[in-house]
Amino acid sequence: MKIIIVKDYEEASQKACEIMLEVVKNKPNANLGLATGSTPVRLYELMREDHKKNGTSYKDIKSFNLDEYFGLEQSHPQSYHYFMCKNLFNELDINMNNVHVPKGNGNIDEECANYNQLLADNPIDIQLLGIGSNGHIGFNEPGTPFDSVTHKVDLKQSTIEDNARLFFNGKIEDVPTQAVSMGIANIMQAKKVLLIACGSGKATAVKGMIEDPKTTDLPASALQDHSDVTLIIDEAAASLLTK
Ligand code: F6R
Repeated sequence: MKIIIVKDYEEASQKACEIMLEVVKNKPNANLGLATGSTPVRLYELMREDHKKNGTSYKDIKSFNLDEYFGLEQSHPQSYHYFMCKNLFNELDINMNNVHVPKGNGNIDEECANYNQLLADNPIDIQLLGIGSNGHIGFNEPGTPFDSVTHKVDLKQSTIEDNARLFFNGKIEDVPTQAVSMGIANIMQAKKVLLIACGSGKATAVKGMIEDPKTTDLPASALQDHSDVTLIIDEAAASLLTK
């Protein structure tokens, strides 16, 4: 694991942006694995600014998001599809036919099987990840097997609370209790993984991911076995690291 410790969220976002842009510039038809949540918001803003200022093109880029809430239409303002359009896609020259976010409704078994096939046909060049305060990656909650592929998940209460704090106007009763997520095996197949962790709320998960033995109780610890992982961690999230 390559670990980059930075001062704060801004520096983490700048560093992550450099890494993402390097991939996009070196491979204009790259497959990007993308995340939602609060962590990548500034990174996506920097990517939009770069596109506007420097013309970095996404016209041949394909994107594949990690997850989506179960039961929300794409047009719902809290859906991850909506989040991606608003925070990134609407201001890039990406072809919306090349944008993929798992569907959170319809025939879920069929949707999961289709998404797995899509990922098998389009190997991901770089997978961007955040980390849950409980160590989840994607919506792979503690206990998810490391060989899992795209599946429907029950969200843990801590995840529902974390997400209500930042989204859904704080209304916990509005946060869906289930989601569809790429599995840990899908994430591990990405050629490169870039994880950003910021804030003291992530410190315990970050320590477990890096320093403790690999365990399904802390899904991000699976990344210890990936050959090309970069972790960008701010000082607060790194505060419990001992080595
Ligand atoms: C989002 C995702 C989640 C988040 C994680 C951290 O697509 O898959 O794993 O990355 O919950 O969320 P934030 O960034 O809001 O702290």
